[in-house]
Amino acid sequence: MIHMTEATLMTEASPVAAKPHLPDAQTVTAVRHWTDRLFSFRVTRPKSLRFRSGEFVMIGLLDDKGKPLLRAYSIASPAWDEELEFYSIKVPDGPLTSRLQHIQPGDEIILRPKPVGTLVHDALLPGKRLWFLATGTGIAPFASLMREPETYEKYDQVIMMHTCREVAELEYGRQLVESLKDDPLIGELVGDKLIYYPTTTREPFHHMGRVTDNLSSGKVFADLGLPKMNPAEDRAMVCGSLAFNIDVKAILEGFGLREGANSDPKEFVVEKAFVGDGV
Ligand code: FAD
Ligand code: A2P
Repeated sequence: MIHMTEATLMTEASPVAAKPHLPDAQTVTAVRHWTDRLFSFRVTRPKSLRFRSGEFVMIGLLDDKGKPLLRAYSIASPAWDEELEFYSIKVPDGPLTSRLQHIQPGDEIILRPKPVGTLVHDALLPGKRLWFLATGTGIAPFASLMREPETYEKYDQVIMMHTCREVAELEYGRQLVESLKDDPLIGELVGDKLIYYPTTTREPFHHMGRVTDNLSSGKVFADLGLPKMNPAEDRAMVCGSLAFNIDVKAILEGFGLREGANSDPKEFVVEKAFVGDGV
């Protein structure tokens, strides 16, 4: 698991955690900064919290006036994990992340224990291959689902396509995928089912290009030796900016896949990785 391999790199929390005083308080146990725009952290898990891998919750801090300042965050850890992991952007002037980026082990955050979301196995009909399509922090729900046994029980192949502008922004996902092979808990289940296809768009890398371009041109199918996506065999989960989600949705529909939901499972599901300016 990623947190095990990172154990030596992360700052560990003091065994004597501060007494919770925030509403729905959880204690930060580890923090890791990946770039000047990205970090991940782990917090204690409320005993009563049940969620499905891929769902999101509201987390935050108190603002200057003592009011909760909350934002939606995908839970990046799987449903079986004792702790909760999150993977976050740092927006320089962002109301929450300008402060959240400074958390340290032992600090508290607010976590509202009401998980929701569409990127869940229940929202897809059975299939042969499952595609995770993400940009930026949109990999967070798939960091959960890639560690979920059900993912490998339900599908023969799982393809993680993740695109960022620069190589360093892929590192969280790369280390997670790498660690899964030897994971004592699910390594055997993962086997060679998980295929990782990272690309960059603004820095040279062995594979480049937008997810959308690599799907429409057929490059990813040729590179991986897989048939073109089709509704009989392929299922997809999509998580990125609104523009990315709209463009990917059109391509998946072009392949004959239909968008599903929790109440109406079909061939693909979509969730926003963030709400953009003016959207
Ligand atoms: P905000 O005022 O919320 O955002 C300011 C601006 O920053 C936005 O208009 C947008 O342009 C940009 N921005 C915000 N979030 C991102 C992002 N993740 N990537 C790139 N640009 C962004 N954020 C995460 O970092 N990790 C997650 O797992 C995550 N899961 C989410 C799940 C859902 C369903 C939704 C709707 C959002 C999610 N977000 C996630 C975004 C998150 O809710 C906040 O927007 C983010 O933490 C920034 O908060 P802020 O108050 O600092 O700035
Ligand atoms: P590009 O560099 O060509 O814009 P951002 O950092 O702006 O959120 O983008 C993250 C990644 O998503 C970048 O690699 C970016 O490619 C890509 N991207 C942005 N918008 C789209 C879109 N509409 N369709 C596909 N990929 C996109």
